[in-house]
Amino acid sequence: MNPKIILELIDLQKSYGDLSVLKGVNFRVREGELVSIIGPSGSGKSSMLRCCNLLEQPTGGQIVFDGHDITREGVNINRVRQDMGMVFQQFNLYPHLTALGNVALALRCVKKLGKAEAHEQAMAALEQVGLAHKAQAYPAQLSGGQQQRVGIARAVALKPKIILFDEPTSALDPELVSSVLGVMRELRGTGVTMLVVTHEMGFARDVSDRVIFMDGGQVAADDTPDRVFSGTGSDRLATFLSRFHGEQG
Ligand SMILES: Nc1ncnc2c1ncn2[C@@H]1O[C@H](COP(=O)(O)OP(=O)(O)OP(=O)(O)O)[C@@H](O)[C@H]1O
Ligand SMILES: [Mg+2]
Repeated sequence: MNPKIILELIDLQKSYGDLSVLKGVNFRVREGELVSIIGPSGSGKSSMLRCCNLLEQPTGGQIVFDGHDITREGVNINRVRQDMGMVFQQFNLYPHLTALGNVALALRCVKKLGKAEAHEQAMAALEQVGLAHKAQAYPAQLSGGQQQRVGIARAVALKPKIILFDEPTSALDPELVSSVLGVMRELRGTGVTMLVVTHEMGFARDVSDRVIFMDGGQVAADDTPDRVFSGTGSDRLATFLSRFHGEQG
């Protein structure tokens, strides 16, 4: 039997004023999957992620998360966000708190844990991303890649049902990208469900269970990495992929 569907978008639509950016997006994510989203700039990838955790209000369609339609009126947004982690392009760490403090604060605020328990679980999350030795460092004392790994630890510590990533490596210097992608690869091995918007085509091809190609506010392809990266069946996909060929080893 297939694992259960944890997130389903049904005819999701989003407009900003007159500008329609999501024109009926449909896809599903099952428990334990890593699904990558690729597509040109402006195709609606960030808007789609931001609708999923209700940072943006969809203008049509449904988002079913863990069996509940979270686009209904009266939904408890805070409850939804407890179960849905988010890792952004900018790391959004508090500069006046240590790595441990940043992760522990999330546990205290969201999970209402006491100090000792929050610190213990924060430490375990930092260990998972290979940063236990930097627990007492402040963000300014960490590389961009290390800061992003703290951001990932903060999401993982809350044990959400899914983690949404929006271009987690695109603010990093090239030599720091692989450490973050490495942590994400390892997370996948532990069964964390992940939906990842990325421009890292090698990562999307090698690590994903499925790859979704978004174009013009719609899902233009949703298939295995091998089939999507063959680029056959869609001129726009082939054109999009051809832009990356020069960048790949
Ligand atoms: N808050 C907003 N108000 C108005 N227009 C917006 C807003 N956010 C995004 N848009 C527009 O919606 C469209 C889709 O933007 P979005 O950020 O979702 O694309 P994207 O696929 O994530 O692009 P990128 O790869 O550059 O991050 C763009 O035309 C953008 O200008
Ligand atoms: Mg974006």
